Parts: sequence; C-alpha cells; structure tokens
Amino acid sequence: MNQPDMNNDIERVLYSEAEIAQAAKRVGEQLAADYQDRTPIILSVLKGAVLWTVDVMRHMQYAEVEFIDVSSYNGGIASSGNVDLVTDLQTDINGRDIVIMEDIVDTGRSLKFMIELLKSRGAKSVKTASLLDKKDGRVVEATVDYVGFDVPKAFVVGYGLDYKQLYRNLPYVGVLKREVYDPQHADIVDTVDITPNH
Ligand code: IMP
Repeated sequence: MNQPDMNNDIERVLYSEAEIAQAAKRVGEQLAADYQDRTPIILSVLKGAVLWTVDVMRHMQYAEVEFIDVSSYNGGIASSGNVDLVTDLQTDINGRDIVIMEDIVDTGRSLKFMIELLKSRGAKSVKTASLLDKKDGRVVEATVDYVGFDVPKAFVVGYGLDYKQLYRNLPYVGVLKREVYDPQHADIVDTVDITPNH
C-alpha cells in the first residue's frame, strides 16, 4: 500500500518555496557584502539548517562550511531546557569569523550555548543567520543578525524543520495539523496568530 501524501499533514503554508528562495538570496547577498574582505566559516546546525545553508551559500563568495549538532528538543514539540553538544565541529576556529546558520531560533538556548562555545574557543566574531526567528518564544537573550522571516509562535515544519525527523524535505514551511502531534485534541483550534507577517 502506498503511504499517504505528507502534504495532507500540513494545516497551512506559511512560506512558499519561492518566498524562501528570495529570502535566501537576500540574506546570502547581505552576507557576501558584509564579509567581502574576509572568508567566514559558515557553521550549519544539523540537521534542520542544511537546506537553508546551501541555498544561502550559493549567493556568497569565499566561504568555508562546517557542521555542528546540538540538541534541545529530543524529537518532541517543546524545548527540553538543556542543550547537548551532539556532534562537534571538526576545525580550529581560533581567530575566525563564524556565521551560525540556524533553521529556527525559539527559546534562544541552543544559539546562546553555541555562541558561548565558539567564543570560548577563540572565534574572532560570531554572527547568526536564521531562516526563522520565533521572537515570542525567547527565554534567554539571543540575537539573530540575519533573519529570513519572523515567525509567529506555532509549531512549523518543512524546508529542514522536522517533527520526529519527518517533513524536512517539504520545499515550503508550514504549520503542522494538531491531529498529527496531539490526536486527542485534534478538535482544538489554535488561537495563535499564524498569519505570515511579510
Ligand atoms: P531553541 O534552543 O529553543 O531556540 O530551539 C532551537 C531548535 O529547536 C531549532 O534548531 C529546532 O531544531 C527546534 N525548533 C524550535 N521551534 C521549532 C518548530 O516550530 N519546528 C521544528 N523545530 C523547532
């Protein structure tokens, strides 16, 4: 039997493939301009930021790419509060300019953890470029320097973002139907404003 179409699990699309491509171009060109006299290390946060990283990097000039994996979610829909370093980056960053590529910054815990880690290892500068900035979710102070979209406080998937490791390969970002992650309360309508603000 064929599997059902995973697009049917999406309540609504927030950012289309074309809108994301435009955002990647805008952020990539901004980074290219800001780092024109330097070769930054683009530090992609696994696994969610991989699509965003490659799409942004296409618009840049000289840049290296590295990967790091930190975990604060444990596969659910709420942050656990603790951040673990799952996979460390493989290069000496002492004296280097780093651009952290995130899929989404929510509580800010993961980002704060990484910024402190990179600074403790002697990074010359650390900036962040995130596809999505969920500012209302902030628990600790963490600033995103380059933002694709300011996203409202809803659980979103697609274009790298997952729920239980699925939906990362959707070409757009959308809100997951409540019945997918909370079948017992499928009839509750989320009151949160999920209208895209662009
Ligand atoms: P933070 O540490 O709370 O800022 O969370 C950052 C990480 O949580 C992101 O890199 C995502 O992996 C995950 N995350 C936060 N919000 C969402 C969401 O709406 N959908 C999927 N993953 C999310």
